[in-house]
Amino acid sequence: MSPHAVDGTAEPGQRRRVVVGVGGGIAAYKACALIRSFTEAGHHVRVVPTASALEFVGRATFEALSGNPVHTGVFADVPQVPHVRLGQEADLVVIAPATADLMARAVAGRADDLLTATLLTARCPVMFVPAMHTEMWEHPATVDNVATLRRRGAVVIEPASGRLTGKDTGAGRLPEPDEIYALAALLLERADALPRDLAGHRLVISAGGTREPLDPVRFLGNRSSGKQGYALARLAAQRGADVTLVAGAVAGLDDPSAVDVVRVQTAAQMQDAVMKHAGGADAVIMAAAVADFRPTTFATSKIKKGEGEPDTVPLTKNDDILAGLVRSRTDGTLSSGTVIVGFAAETGDEQGDVLSYARAKLARKGCDLLVVNAVGDGKAFEVDHNDGWLLAADGSETALAHGSKSLMASRVLDALRPLLPSVDR
Ligand code: CTP
Repeated sequence: MSPHAVDGTAEPGQRRRVVVGVGGGIAAYKACALIRSFTEAGHHVRVVPTASALEFVGRATFEALSGNPVHTGVFADVPQVPHVRLGQEADLVVIAPATADLMARAVAGRADDLLTATLLTARCPVMFVPAMHTEMWEHPATVDNVATLRRRGAVVIEPASGRLTGKDTGAGRLPEPDEIYALAALLLERADALPRDLAGHRLVISAGGTREPLDPVRFLGNRSSGKQGYALARLAAQRGADVTLVAGAVAGLDDPSAVDVVRVQTAAQMQDAVMKHAGGADAVIMAAAVADFRPTTFATSKIKKGEGEPDTVPLTKNDDILAGLVRSRTDGTLSSGTVIVGFAAETGDEQGDVLSYARAKLARKGCDLLVVNAVGDGKAFEVDHNDGWLLAADGSETALAHGSKSLMASRVLDALRPLLPSVDR
């Protein structure tokens, strides 16, 4: 099959109309950072808080951050009919935090304040980002309301677990503003990027670089930021999958919400963690930049300059985790149905271009899908955007249009989805 471009995605940075709804919960303060991310990206933002949200954050803060007037009721600014126009004109509505009460009112189709009226008139993607005490999140009324909103086409984000107000812990915490922004910005790039189509599936995803210690203060590492693997884990969890993220060294990233994170340092530790969790998984995605070599010996005290200083560092080859997974599938230690996805970072050279190296790598590694990033010239590593190719074992080759790492992740999960075993839901 010949390579083809995949989509008609909106240009990153294109100015869009975003309504940020804010419910009345303590997490309302996090909406401030979210609003700022939208305005910094050049979008036109209207903030619509509920009356109780203004008990937590003042109107002046929202007006200053968005540069636009802020109302809660439908009778302000009546000639402009904002209760109808805000929703009709929006490209995206994000509600953060979405309280249990606000979601219940949305389900009931109420229109007794500006935010609920806006929800009734919006025809764009609508994303609820719940935040509440665990008991409220787990209550059958909320569970039903979340299911109803999803059935009607809204995106309802899985909340984070962790410390809530006071001493409470458990699911129900608002994800960090950067994570909410990443998911919301993805919906602006691609309105259908967050279906719940991975519910019932277990995925293991590796991310980041490994660090191979040389002595107590030094290591051999690489420039992987972990952003691509984290974007995959975040998205897979929001698409309903049960995700274990095996994370090596990453560039100060927050843990994605609703994901189990296992931290490792070395390639050997990553191998152990991946093999351990691959057991019950439907798919393993190796997005990590695993070191091919490690220093043969580890000096237990710091290597000093001067007499006896080494002039070379002997290296030993690490196991190839991806190839090992493929082997375990054949020898029966891993279920033969486990889908295995590899990544390849290629520059191309005089001997071959990026795609010819990638095709050879797919054949050599024997995985089902290979995500190919063109690297060099500042591409792929440590940046927020990516482009590349998706090669499949059946010979199909798909160009991945330039876009955010979240968009790339959504394309990879789309390609993975039909390869997964069916689940009874
Ligand atoms: N990989 C792995 N274990 C290793 C090295 C790489 O599992 N020891 C995985 C990576 O996570 C990635 C894929 O293999 O999914 C390709 O990695 P890459 O570094 O591009 O491939 P290499 O086999 O190291 O090939 P190259 O000779 O191009 O470095």
